[in-house]
Amino acid sequence: MKSRSLAVAAGLLSVLAVSAATLALAQDSAAPAAAPAAAPAPAAAAAGPVVGSAEAGAAKAAVCSACHGVGGNSVNPEWPSLAGQHPEYTAQQLQLFRAMVRTNPIMQAQAVALTDQDIADLSAYYRQQTQTGLEADPSLVQAGEKLYRAGDPVRGIPGCKACHGPGGLGNGPAKWPLVRAQHSLYTYNQLKNYANRARYVAVEGQPSPPAQAEMMYDVASRMTDEDMRAVASFIQGLR
Ligand code: HEC
Ligand code: HEC
Repeated sequence: MKSRSLAVAAGLLSVLAVSAATLALAQDSAAPAAAPAAAPAPAAAAAGPVVGSAEAGAAKAAVCSACHGVGGNSVNPEWPSLAGQHPEYTAQQLQLFRAMVRTNPIMQAQAVALTDQDIADLSAYYRQQTQTGLEADPSLVQAGEKLYRAGDPVRGIPGCKACHGPGGLGNGPAKWPLVRAQHSLYTYNQLKNYANRARYVAVEGQPSPPAQAEMMYDVASRMTDEDMRAVASFIQGLR
């Protein structure tokens, strides 16, 4: 009795062993079939966000410094300072210049030859630079500060600080740009561009203009020329 049940047990074990082997075989044979399905994963990773190196960016920024200044602190008020800017925003804007979607022809010519890696490196580099800071125009700063902090509810203008932050530091992941210590002429020009919907154009086969530009189209379209000058002056002195 005892030996018979042992034999049965042994038989069961051998059946289990066989099915385990079959299972292993099945898994083995499943492996090559799974491989092609898994193959797109590395490709997708390569197409994902490119990691930037500030060190590599420093070398690549030599050509940019002719206009954007040493360390991204521009001395020409029409050319923006880039120091401290969020890399998410800088990279997005460089891609849009390269795609001819952001309309400025001077920058389109600069961006056209940049690779995704160049863009990531340059964006990382400028993020690490320190802003030297500028002064506000004292005759405009009061009106500008009011608009920046509180907006004008009567005209439906939101305070800029709601998105750009009380200190003008913006928000990287949200791609709300850092605006503080920017040349007032550049800021004014951008507010005009937004009000006229001229900052971007749609280009077939290229990424669309950022959907969130709509926020700035709306804000800027409610502002007078005087508002723009005042808030731009306040932002220039913001630190
Ligand atoms: C010949 C002058 C010139 C050179 C060189 C130049 N830029 Fe520009 N850049 C400009 C001007 C002018 C603008 C403003 C464009 C506008 O008004 O839309 C600008 C705008 C930008 C902006 C947008 C800033 C913002 O706040 O939205 C970025 C980013 C930028 N440049 C990066 C670079 C990089 C990186 C290089 C080097 C590869 C470079 N630029 C070289 C003139 C230049
Ligand atoms: C609801 C959020 C929001 C509010 C409020 C807002 N902004 Fe913006 N701002 C944005 C976003 C988002 C962008 C980037 C848009 C794009 O992709 O072109 C931007 C871009 C800008 C730029 C372009 C910066 C550059 O480097 O080119 C300026 C200048 C600016 N805003 C000024 C202002 C001012 C001045 C006010 C207040 C009167 C204001 N913003 C209110 C969200 C906002």
